[in-house]
Amino acid sequence: MSLFITFEGIEGAGKSTQILLLKSALLKQGLNVLITREPGGTFIGDQIRTILLDQKNKDMTPLTELFLYEASRAQHVHEKILPALKQKKIVISDRFYDASTVYQGMARELPLSWIHPLNRMASFELKPDLTFVLDVDVTKGLSRIQKRYRSTKKKDRIERESQKFHHKIRQGYLTLAKKEPSRIKVIDAAQDINTIHQNILYWVNKKR
Ligand code: TMP
Repeated sequence: MSLFITFEGIEGAGKSTQILLLKSALLKQGLNVLITREPGGTFIGDQIRTILLDQKNKDMTPLTELFLYEASRAQHVHEKILPALKQKKIVISDRFYDASTVYQGMARELPLSWIHPLNRMASFELKPDLTFVLDVDVTKGLSRIQKRYRSTKKKDRIERESQKFHHKIRQGYLTLAKKEPSRIKVIDAAQDINTIHQNILYWVNKKR
């Protein structure tokens, strides 16, 4: 059977590590898995991602930002996610439309009544079967990305936002999870990596 799983959380919550662990556990079960991400996931989407995350674009308005995320999503769902689900794959996306609700809506304060219809449109009405919010303290999350970037490249446009912005993101995800508890599972991402993984695997196997 096909399954559409998404991962969300503040920066530095550990999504990438958990996505890779989940992928290898599902592959071991003999399942067909596709890993993808937003913004990006397609040739066109990756170009949109570059515009979105470029620090030089600091004058981008929240509405422009929203449309670019939705444009990347429309291409992603059409070109990659829907065909994979049709082939009965398990699709795991590093972020999806909940990120637009939380980042552009709850943090940038665009009206949710604008965002919801665009989310529905860009995803061709597709909804994730299961969403994991990796929840971690903002200071801890940001210190993880600080370490990651110390020796390599600079932080991107969104990672450069204030602590207050990231607090709003964390609270936003927790609010969404309360509204849709059967789809959105909040995972305490301060736990050790394997405990988090086992927790995630439990919910995925329960859904299958
Ligand atoms: P990533 O760092 O998890 O790859 O995501 C890129 C950034 O884009 C991250 O800061 C979250 C942000 N984002 C939004 O603001 N809205 C969206 O709809 C999506 C998918 C991501």
